[in-house]
Amino acid sequence: MIRIGVIGYGYWGPNIVRNLHGLDSTRVEMICDKSSASLARARKAYPGVSTCSDPEEILTSPNIDAVAVITPVWTHYDLAKKALQNGKHVFVEKPFTSNSQQAEELIELAARKNLTIMVDHTFLFTGAVKKIRELTESGALGNLYYYDSLRVNLGLFQHDVSVIWDLAPHDLSIMDHIIRGEPEAVVATGERHLNGVEDVAFMTIYFPGNVIAHINVNWLSPVKIRMTMIGGQKKMLVWNDLVRDEKVRIYDKGVTITSGDDIQKLLVSYRSGDMWAPQLEEPEALRVELDYFAKCIMNNQTPFNDGHAGLRVVRMLEAAEVSIQKRGELVRL
Ligand SMILES: NC(=O)c1ccc[n+]([C@@H]2O[C@H](COP(=O)([O-])OP(=O)(O)OC[C@H]3O[C@@H](n4cnc5c(N)ncnc54)[C@H](O)[C@@H]3O)[C@@H](O)[C@H]2O)c1
Repeated sequence: MIRIGVIGYGYWGPNIVRNLHGLDSTRVEMICDKSSASLARARKAYPGVSTCSDPEEILTSPNIDAVAVITPVWTHYDLAKKALQNGKHVFVEKPFTSNSQQAEELIELAARKNLTIMVDHTFLFTGAVKKIRELTESGALGNLYYYDSLRVNLGLFQHDVSVIWDLAPHDLSIMDHIIRGEPEAVVATGERHLNGVEDVAFMTIYFPGNVIAHINVNWLSPVKIRMTMIGGQKKMLVWNDLVRDEKVRIYDKGVTITSGDDIQKLLVSYRSGDMWAPQLEEPEALRVELDYFAKCIMNNQTPFNDGHAGLRVVRMLEAAEVSIQKRGELVRL
């Protein structure tokens, strides 16, 4: 059983605590938040769990094996570093850190102390992403052409990070998990309208082998959309995360172009076959992920969503930020 101290009980923290509380592999030892209102909520929900307002109590407690850092991104580095320095494993929210240097330092520190870092890339544990990964890994989609995602809604406005740092980590971590090959370059554009950070942004990522990804993130959308299309040579799919049934639909559609001896005479044939919707696993992704965190620690196993995975996402976010400042200039990774 892994004894965990949770720092941050704002919007996302209660989901972490609820899931940790329900697992056999973990025990919530202490909850910390500097806000007394948040602590009052925690005490009401979990009267048996001790609480504190100073993270040092968790970071130095001999009764805690691992720390979950569920605070805003600019606090991740300091809290995670102190946890590692005190010999504690770390579960840290996305995005991993505010810049790649911090991420590299934490990765090095964890390796030196033989401690686990897991970055909360929650979507990788959903039935939808597991199925999509299965389909890409087995070659069912064929060579990939593109990944195209729309993640838009009205709010929730963050004051400390732009819409790119808030929403794009989801797509970037999913993309990193299912597209083979290191991204080569990023182009991004965005605008600030309301509170000094980009609230609308578009990001394009170039991969080897003509694979291209596009991510549209927006806090000023009149409707909420969570839609991803992935095009492959053999099959294409549409993932609508907001519907209950048939979240992932796979289309046997495609285009084949053949040319005979005469280059002028291209033969274009369209294939329009069946659509099918696979059965997806249903359990709550966060529960699966937190159980995996505990098992990785117990078995001394490196998680696939480790510090390196977090760093790859942060590198793309940094590149996007530079590109936005230069109004869409290509930034090589
Ligand atoms: N994986 C996901 O799907 C998902 C979803 C939402 C948020 N998040 C991530 O979770 C993190 C927190 O987001 P949120 O929306 O819960 O933010 P939030 O502002 O609602 O909550 C953060 C809480 O941390 C507390 N806090 C901040 N600094 C602290 C410190 N040094 N010591 C103790 N308490 C401190 C605040 O008082 C607040 O209650 C962010 O990194 C965000 O990106 C992830």
